[in-house]
Amino acid sequence: MTKNEPRTKDHAPGTKDQGPRTTLWSGRFDTAPDAAAFEFGASFRFDRRLFDDDVTGSLAWTRALARADVISRDDARNIEEALIEILEQGRANPDFIAGPDEDVHSFVERVLVERLGDAGRRLHTGRSRNEQVSVDLRLYLRRRIPALQQAVAALVEALALQASKAGDSLMPAYTHFRPAQPVLVAHFFLAHVAPLRRDFERLAAARAEADALPLGSGAVAGTSYTIDVEKLARDLGFSRVVANSIDASSDRDFAVSFLYACALTMVHLSRLAEDLIIFCGDEHRFFDLSDAVSTGSSMMPQKKNPDPLELVRGKSGRSIGHLVALLTAIKGLPSGYNKDLQEDKECVFDAEDTLAGSLAVVRSVVGGLTLNRERAESAASGLLLATDVADYLVGRGVPFRRAHEIVGALVRNLHGEGRDFESLSLDEWRAASALFDEDVVRRVSSRASAAAKKTPQSTAPAAVSARLAEVQGWLHGL
Ligand code: ARG
Repeated sequence: MTKNEPRTKDHAPGTKDQGPRTTLWSGRFDTAPDAAAFEFGASFRFDRRLFDDDVTGSLAWTRALARADVISRDDARNIEEALIEILEQGRANPDFIAGPDEDVHSFVERVLVERLGDAGRRLHTGRSRNEQVSVDLRLYLRRRIPALQQAVAALVEALALQASKAGDSLMPAYTHFRPAQPVLVAHFFLAHVAPLRRDFERLAAARAEADALPLGSGAVAGTSYTIDVEKLARDLGFSRVVANSIDASSDRDFAVSFLYACALTMVHLSRLAEDLIIFCGDEHRFFDLSDAVSTGSSMMPQKKNPDPLELVRGKSGRSIGHLVALLTAIKGLPSGYNKDLQEDKECVFDAEDTLAGSLAVVRSVVGGLTLNRERAESAASGLLLATDVADYLVGRGVPFRRAHEIVGALVRNLHGEGRDFESLSLDEWRAASALFDEDVVRRVSSRASAAAKKTPQSTAPAAVSARLAEVQGWLHGL
């Protein structure tokens, strides 16, 4: 047996107990790996999700090796044909992507060698799994992030539709979770659109960060073959090549950025979920949840629970956990590849699945909401118009701080008597300040309060319509 031939032990029909059949590094070792240690280190269980990207990367590497005259044109053609066949087989039948292999890279290479013999054994020339796993994950994120962005946009669309259906309806806005000021219901829905728009851009930024070719870095020092990395980058659709091979072999910043984008999007979904849990609850009932996204209680027949929203709120913790897990895993790593980095993949995949599932369910919930206009509007009146009363006095020349005091005293009395501004007679207004006139009754209303706002980000109906139009235009242009 020559040194380069895989040892028989590695090809013995393996059961779990006997250990694995195939590793890419058995030449150095006398004994088969300990089955439990091998299982512990193996990543095929989860990195099979990179199958497509691994084959794509290998196809391009084959062409790069041929261009550099490292392998013959014949070998290159055979390898390419076999890899395409393997790719098609894996796409057609996911069960094909299985075996006792350590990881997806070992799997693809094993199947290739089984089909081609020595030509297949030439594929890994000048290349390391350290850069291979990086190129795979970069390709993966590049092709998967757009689907998440689309799901973000679909939720934005559902929110915009609710904003448009709400027309000029009013509801209270809160600070410190106490009723603060009247706002348009549309303004509330658009308040949840704004962070999602930023999330969309954050996902785009994570994708742009992943968009660099690490191949050519070798295990850590680069490769000794004259690989045209610029051409290889173009071949794989990367817009640039990494700057430094040592850095590239352990750079997972792009994965961290992706996890950050996912975690923050989940935080935004969680806050939307919380608002809807409250506003659909019996104490508020500004909105009703559709039955289709509600659940009942096994014991209390009256219950209509917002389980999907609670789960989204709960899952945001898990998503933040993935970000912290990867940051923690890399923070003490010495330069160059370390196996700790294998921990990146389950974080990335689960963050992706968690976000995709949450976006879809929140979109259904938002799509099924019905507005209880009367309840929402009646909650938007009363003492929360106090700022507008103060502004009325400011309009008559009273310094704001003084107006605040006058209205504060008025509110104190009304609150004690269980009344609000609407019940005040003109004499009572005048008792608070002689500057109040008959028009105060007209000026101090929820609708007037919203209409009086002047800035483009405010709840003024014209401003809200303009924002809504901008959002619809954005959706249209996607
Ligand atoms: N499964 C490994 C990972 O996910 C692939 C790279 C392995 N490289 C190595 N030198 N063991 O990081």
